[in-house]
Amino acid sequence: MSWNDIPDWSSRVTKAILNSLKAKDSHTYFHCLRVGKSARLLGRSAGLNDYEQKVLEYSGIFHDIGKIGIPDDVLFKPAKLTRDEYRLMKNHTLKSVEILDPLKEVPFFKDIIPAVELHHERLDGTGYPHGLDAKDIPLITRIVSIVDSIDAMVSTRPYCKSMPMDKVISELKKNSGSQFDEDLVKVYIEAHKFWNKESKEDQKKSGDGILVADLLLKSAG
Ligand SMILES: [Fe+2]
Repeated sequence: MSWNDIPDWSSRVTKAILNSLKAKDSHTYFHCLRVGKSARLLGRSAGLNDYEQKVLEYSGIFHDIGKIGIPDDVLFKPAKLTRDEYRLMKNHTLKSVEILDPLKEVPFFKDIIPAVELHHERLDGTGYPHGLDAKDIPLITRIVSIVDSIDAMVSTRPYCKSMPMDKVISELKKNSGSQFDEDLVKVYIEAHKFWNKESKEDQKKSGDGILVADLLLKSAG
């Protein structure tokens, strides 16, 4: 698969689906955009090709789309969830897959589904929705999982404050090998300091509207 296998309508349909998420939950909407962008950047730093970087961007953009289907009193609860509420919340991964189901006949979108479905799996087998072993968790999924967790740590929520970057790095190191891929954590620690500059260069190249996450983040100011 190559860049040419990405349908030219992909960004339009993606923006339309994302508008539904924005209408329901703008916090998750911006989280998805940031995760899409960071997933692409971590993929590039890890040496993945252009097509894989695009799969990463769209996987990040769609990874929490299923939160559209989570009841408001659970999704927006300004406190720790009860066990039952957490069980409901965990359904968002499979709901995301359901939402994308009509697109899975398209090979590019089919390639996005594993990371969307599996981004809460952990290498030690204690993740969800399936409790997979490390060997069954693909590289693209491991990348989305790391940048998703980082974005959650650095974001402020009603029930938890944002974490400073040095603490985020210690968390990544602490959970390296059990939750996160060790090699990818090393790549992130080395490479993320240079991402701002690289991202500006991407924007210059993106006159054709290919970099959806960048463009939507930019248009939101
Ligand atoms: Fe998630």
